[in-house]
Amino acid sequence: MYQAPCGTIDILPEEQAYWRYIEQKAAEISQRYGYRRIDTPVFEDTGLFIRGVGEATDIVQKEMYTFEDRGGNKLTLRPEGTAPACRAYLEHGMQNLLQPVKMFYITSLYRYERPQAGRYREFRQFGCEAIGEIDPSLDAEVIDMAWQFFLLLGMSQLLLKINSIGCKNCRPEYTGLIKQYYTQCEPRLCPDCRSRLAKNPLRLLDCKNTSCQQIASSAPKSYEHLCPECATHFEQLQKYVRLLDLPFQVDPCLVRGLDYYTRTVFEIQPEAEGSQSTVGAGGRYDDLIEELGGKPTPGIGFAIGIERIIFNLKKQNTPIPPLPDPAVYIASLGEASREAAVKLSGDLRRRGISLVQAHGNKSLKAQLRQANTLGVRWTVVIGDEEIKTCTVQLRDMTTSRQQTIRMDKLAEILK
Ligand code: HAM
Repeated sequence: MYQAPCGTIDILPEEQAYWRYIEQKAAEISQRYGYRRIDTPVFEDTGLFIRGVGEATDIVQKEMYTFEDRGGNKLTLRPEGTAPACRAYLEHGMQNLLQPVKMFYITSLYRYERPQAGRYREFRQFGCEAIGEIDPSLDAEVIDMAWQFFLLLGMSQLLLKINSIGCKNCRPEYTGLIKQYYTQCEPRLCPDCRSRLAKNPLRLLDCKNTSCQQIASSAPKSYEHLCPECATHFEQLQKYVRLLDLPFQVDPCLVRGLDYYTRTVFEIQPEAEGSQSTVGAGGRYDDLIEELGGKPTPGIGFAIGIERIIFNLKKQNTPIPPLPDPAVYIASLGEASREAAVKLSGDLRRRGISLVQAHGNKSLKAQLRQANTLGVRWTVVIGDEEIKTCTVQLRDMTTSRQQTIRMDKLAEILK
């Protein structure tokens, strides 16, 4: 027997109400903040992610699903949505539109990670990108949008952490300080951190290992080593976020796993669980468009993991509006009445009524039992007598009361 590939899930019919609910709320909040939907291909040129996400990141080093197609093109299933959105921005000349260009996506992503609770190899995100504006009031707006999205979904007890990791002018000096500090602590570092020290020193700060976290707590803080422009940007951002009444913490250990970030970074986590279960994250990427071949153009965005939202909604017992089920069941007895049922069902559906038609040779009792299980409000019964008189029996499943209705009046009555 085949099984779904490791790290993937089937989203079964009974789960779909969550997905529909989240997608509707994502579209609603996007409209409220002026974002329009974009859909990009599921695979892209591998180079886009190597350049965009960064050669030294875990994603590029060990998580990409990369393959060569029959034409010899090197392609990668998208591991994230920001680089594709920036590629589309450049490819479609969006620099000529009113800036910032604001786009959102609801899409599946692929990362060859070690599967565990809340971590999949195929997962879905709701993401937003605002490209073409440097003003920190946009950063505050983007963070506000992510936060309000969770409130709109009915999620609570969340933590909002923000930090500034500087720009290409001030970061090298800070990275040097981190390297220096961690080199002194090297014997106490976990094996992963020892290799990070050479490859990606900033990632040392967000190691989940307890003893590495202790070391990180005394490490130099990026916000104390920002250039004047980045320092002002970060101060203004905090002022705007306060004006929006968002309960944030500045977390000096917050760095992100993708290389394109500059200045503002932020994460939203459930209060109880910590960073392993981050539900949403984002930040600025002011050099990314240039890195991909465009003119220097700033950008900021975030992405929220939909599977993780569903996990939290279930955990908090948040009520989700159910998807509408058919309200009508059509029962029939014998071939002649089956023919009438086929015709009647087609007719009612063409008039917009959703219904379940009985198939197979079940007794009336079994058909009524099925109607009950489906939870329909009405059952229409057609037998020989009804065919002769062009009528049906309409049974109210809540009271079990039955009345004779003319077949040509049925649609109107059901509507
Ligand atoms: P990210 O932090 O890699 O950022 O992912 C964002 C969110 O996607 C995470 O907080 C988490 O909820 C979810 N997520 C990530 N990996 C997995 C996984 N393996 N299984 C389940 N959920 C996962 C980005 O992807 C950036 N592109 C966000 C961004 C947009 N930054 C600026 N614009």
